[in-house]
Amino acid sequence: MDVFRIEGGHSLSGTVEAGGAKNAALPIFAATLLTAGTCRINAVPDLTDIRFMGKILRYLGARVEQVGPHSWEIEAGEVHHRAPYELVRQMRASVCLLGPLVGRLRQAEVSLPGGCVIGPRPIDLHLKGLNRLGCEIDIRNGYVHVDGSGLHGDYLYLGGRHGSTVTGTANMIMAAVLAPGTTRIESAACEPEVVDLCQMLVKMGAKIHGIGSHYLKIEGVAELTGCEHTVLPDRIEAGTLLLAGAITNSEITVQNVIPGHMRALLDAMEGCGIPSEILPDERQITVHPTESPRNPVEIITLPHPGFPTDLQAQMLALMTLTPGLSFITERVYPNRFMHVPELLRMGAHVSMEGPSAVVKGVDKLYGAPIMASDLRASAALVLAGLAAEGETWIQRIYHLDRGYEKLEEKLNKLGARVERLNEDSIPRELVEAG
Ligand code: EPU
Repeated sequence: MDVFRIEGGHSLSGTVEAGGAKNAALPIFAATLLTAGTCRINAVPDLTDIRFMGKILRYLGARVEQVGPHSWEIEAGEVHHRAPYELVRQMRASVCLLGPLVGRLRQAEVSLPGGCVIGPRPIDLHLKGLNRLGCEIDIRNGYVHVDGSGLHGDYLYLGGRHGSTVTGTANMIMAAVLAPGTTRIESAACEPEVVDLCQMLVKMGAKIHGIGSHYLKIEGVAELTGCEHTVLPDRIEAGTLLLAGAITNSEITVQNVIPGHMRALLDAMEGCGIPSEILPDERQITVHPTESPRNPVEIITLPHPGFPTDLQAQMLALMTLTPGLSFITERVYPNRFMHVPELLRMGAHVSMEGPSAVVKGVDKLYGAPIMASDLRASAALVLAGLAAEGETWIQRIYHLDRGYEKLEEKLNKLGARVERLNEDSIPRELVEAG
């Protein structure tokens, strides 16, 4: 297994580009099951999760080929409806196969994905929605069995205790585009990644109205065709890179961003006293260094356009080095604070009050051997390592590779010192002391 060795304390400078969005590319890959035609998907990030989704689609019978560094061709001529546990348990996002399988084949058998380190991730809203669309659902032996022979358009409300559901909305849309009649989805998620999926489906011939809003109206069509689609830029990767600039008090520019997708982060950064500049025509944002001390902030994660939960850990890392008391509350995944104990090992002061972290800024973090627990927690630890004094060794960075393409190369291009090494390289005394 690989580890990162980060030599902290170097300031960054220069320009770096964000790639295509993982959380758009995954449901978009699943959507290719809705047609026997060929789909060409561009700007696909090179990530373990993407390769994994390709593997599942191949298992289901599709021809899946990577035709360029970031382009894939998928042709789901003949496909079957069963996604087994051995595959699904490795990636939660496989649940977004349910909608397209039901839409195309009128049946699906997808293993329930099981536990997740960021907290319980039920799929009750997905099942309630499919049920409203006329499907019969049965959970047996760890599998969701969906009989979609009665699939039809209907009204459905997708709001849950933590707001709308992103993958649940994607699933309902993908089932509804081929369902006879009209489907009305209220409290639909309006994350940019859902919008991107809808835009691809429209290219395939789907009839979707209200794209980007909480109310979608879908008129089912008899069939969809292949298409070419370019995945939208990854707002979370872009945000992580901007925060790398902020935590090292550097000037860096992130290219390939859609500023309109970054408003909540930019607003929080502004509240913190971190200057940034948007160059909308060129799709880039520059973050500037500041002489004055940063201000503490109060942040609550919410569905889009609120502050994204996928940037909470990285923002929290920044607040550990921001004077005063910051409050960070998780409304989407109340238990998503696995990064906190690791940041404490680096000298951070954070105490938990239910789903809120109270962060008391310290002058310095100190490098330490630490452990990545999930994708965004890993990113937060990398940011902390960049700003810490001394060496930080991060183990289990395979979590990071699920969602960031060559993060260390992008950061090193900006002047960071991040090395990817084999875990045997960790000095013994550090592991034993840790
Ligand atoms: N929820 C329910 N019932 C459901 C579905 C969701 O109660 O049937 C709850 C969840 O437990 C959570 C909230 O609703 O509290 C939101 O969950 P959602 O379904 O929106 O999350 P998701 O679709 O499973 C996607 C991203 C996550 C991201 C969330 C929130 C993908 C593949 N995953 O997950 O990304 O955190 O939306 O924006 O798109 C990541 O990239 O690190 C990541 C975890």
